[in-house]
Amino acid sequence: MATGGERTHFGYQSVPLEDKQGRVDDVFHSVARRYDLMNDLMSGGLHRAWKDALVTAVNPPKSDRNFHVLDLAGGTGDVAFRIIDAGGHGVRATVCDINADMLQVGRERAAARGLDGVVTFEQGNAEELAYPDCSFDCVTIAFGIRNVPRIERALDEAYRVLKIGGRFLCLEFSSVDVPGIDALYELYSFQVIPRVGEVVTGDRDAYQYLVESIRKFPRPKEFARMIEAAGFRRASFRPMTGGVVALHSGWRL
Ligand SMILES: C[S@@+](CC[C@H](N)C(=O)[O-])C[C@H]1O[C@@H](n2cnc3c(N)ncnc32)[C@H](O)[C@@H]1O
Repeated sequence: MATGGERTHFGYQSVPLEDKQGRVDDVFHSVARRYDLMNDLMSGGLHRAWKDALVTAVNPPKSDRNFHVLDLAGGTGDVAFRIIDAGGHGVRATVCDINADMLQVGRERAAARGLDGVVTFEQGNAEELAYPDCSFDCVTIAFGIRNVPRIERALDEAYRVLKIGGRFLCLEFSSVDVPGIDALYELYSFQVIPRVGEVVTGDRDAYQYLVESIRKFPRPKEFARMIEAAGFRRASFRPMTGGVVALHSGWRL
């Protein structure tokens, strides 16, 4: 346990910056085996449509042209599988995640789909990537960035490993501003999700963290500025489902 120094949020709790990653890791160790099921239950299947919008923006070539995507905080491989399904034979994906349990579920899913060698799973911290500069045609991150303690470092790293002309795409929960819907969303988030999480995964706290971390994430305009500050150009975002999530984009030009 660190003393003094910089602090950050773990959900609504203020914690030493150095402690956040360990607590996030505990959350995903605990829920890894039920993670995909919970995504369907919590979002009523909507996460599939949000991820499909991300894949459409990735626009993987349908031809045999080589196209290598890095899916950061890629967990159990959901986004990577969708990108592979949408593209041609030249498309490959590397899933990089800090959590060995999430990656293990992903490797098993890849093997069941016959995708060994097309989707590879590598353990790594988004804040400090082991890949050389300019290695990937596209870098994606879905519902991952708000879990990373030093978001600016992860954005800098995404920029560094992206090829010139490549696109960064980030799907993340955002802020619901539609009157009426915002109150319902609040109620659903805080009254329903932690209870469903408790029943399905046995870990209520993990899902309490999830909903709190969404509220603590920067609003989309501010996050777009952070993307620009990392060097990306033409930063833009598209709110979806009344602002429940936003798809952020930036180019390395
Ligand atoms: C909500 S899950 C998202 C998984 C996947 N992208 C999806 O959409 O299904 C968040 C993931 O972020 C990962 N993560 C958290 N901190 C990370 C870090 N510093 N570097 C890489 N991955 C991290 C967690 O291990 C977890 O798998």
